[in-house]
Amino acid sequence: MIHISYDRKRYQEDMINSIQLLDNVVEIGCHIGTSTKIISRLNQDGIVYAFDNSPESTEAMNNLGIEYSNIKFFNADVRNEEVLYDFARKCEKIDVLCVDLGGGYHPDTVFKVFFIWSSILKPRVSLIRNRGLIDFINSSTSNENISSDKGYLNSSANNILPKNLKELKLWSDKL
Ligand SMILES: C[S@@+](CC[C@H](N)C(=O)[O-])C[C@H]1O[C@@H](n2cnc3c(N)ncnc32)[C@H](O)[C@@H]1O
Repeated sequence: MIHISYDRKRYQEDMINSIQLLDNVVEIGCHIGTSTKIISRLNQDGIVYAFDNSPESTEAMNNLGIEYSNIKFFNADVRNEEVLYDFARKCEKIDVLCVDLGGGYHPDTVFKVFFIWSSILKPRVSLIRNRGLIDFINSSTSNENISSDKGYLNSSANNILPKNLKELKLWSDKL
């Protein structure tokens, strides 16, 4: 399932409704760990891999990692392909992907980050926080029945080229 929210409370409710005890979770945009703490309590027998590139995050997240043993923090830019591929090589199965780059943040970048990370990690559930993407979904109609029941896009996840991905270049061999 893919859930999209804008309101922070709904984003957190989606976490409460979706994350299970044994889940391994990737949280993109953890900032100082407000939602990371919620995730960490929900998946006590799994790991939260939390990513953020803000200088504010490092000290707060490192302290949180001492208090909560299942939190692992990465100070990294998630648009960087090396960050994703290094992580994907080493991590266990990821069950849930959470993406919050800022609710009003550019929807194109948020979608691209979701699309690339979910296509590689293939989570059961993805939770995304972004206003523009909700606007797009609620303002669109289609007569074609293309949809996915997992946390990634079945129609295109396997078209990702495993090498030479660059931000803002074409990511699909079908285009
Ligand atoms: C609204 S905050 C996230 C709040 C957090 N989810 C919470 O509930 O407390 C968005 C975060 O996304 C991070 N971010 C934005 N672009 C990023 C990028 N390219 N790579 C990593 N983190 C990024 C920002 O540094 C910021 O901390």
